Amino acid sequence: MRKAVIAGNWKMHMTCAEAQAFADAFRPLVADLPADREVVIAPPFTAIPTVAQALAGTGVAIASQNVHWEEKGAYTGMVSAPMLLEHGVRYAIVGHSEPRKYYSESDEQINLRARSAQAHDLIPILCVGETLDQREARETERVIHRQVEQGLEGIDPTRLVVAYEPIWAIGTGKTCAADEANRICGLIRGWVGNENVVVQYGGSVNPATIDELMVQSDIDGVLVGGASLDPVSFARIASYRLPVAA
Ligand code: PGA
Repeated sequence: MRKAVIAGNWKMHMTCAEAQAFADAFRPLVADLPADREVVIAPPFTAIPTVAQALAGTGVAIASQNVHWEEKGAYTGMVSAPMLLEHGVRYAIVGHSEPRKYYSESDEQINLRARSAQAHDLIPILCVGETLDQREARETERVIHRQVEQGLEGIDPTRLVVAYEPIWAIGTGKTCAADEANRICGLIRGWVGNENVVVQYGGSVNPATIDELMVQSDIDGVLVGGASLDPVSFARIASYRLPVAA
């Protein structure tokens, strides 16, 4: 059985004061989660120490929203893996569609980020996904195959999470149908070449859609944006329920 990974990506939200208030409310809500899942929060860099301290001892892991490929150097505005390790960070999101779009991140750069993460014992969460135009042009499989192949070159497939995030479903309220998300997650698993890799779905996940997504055979978790900013809604997502086998 693959352990589910339920991750919240806060994007550019939450001052330290807001992060502390979130953690205080969230902590009791996730005190008794089943052992079949891991909860992860990716705060903005500045709030990482606050969240790490406020949730210490809960089992909630911390992710960074990106990581640079060098350990140090003249890279204004960037943060490296050793800097994250100092704060107990365990996962690093790489290749999210927002930096791909706004900062023109290439598959080659994303691969370097993933490699640097693994070299420092951070688990990369590689995000892949197609635009609406690509889906309508029936290019979904080709685009995602390329992102997986180039993003994971030289990467150990046993220390990795991949998140399938159709771009048209991010922040739009349009969740991809659970069976279609499952189909793509299954393809990704085959391309990664490790049956046990954790493959997440992301894109407008919310408390109303989580149970149906998690019941799918190839969806091992979710990457949640908007709905992870509210402690009650993210705790409900982390507390997803699977139907009891008859
Ligand atoms: P959303 O974001 O849940 O707000 O759609 C998901 C993501 O970008 O990871």
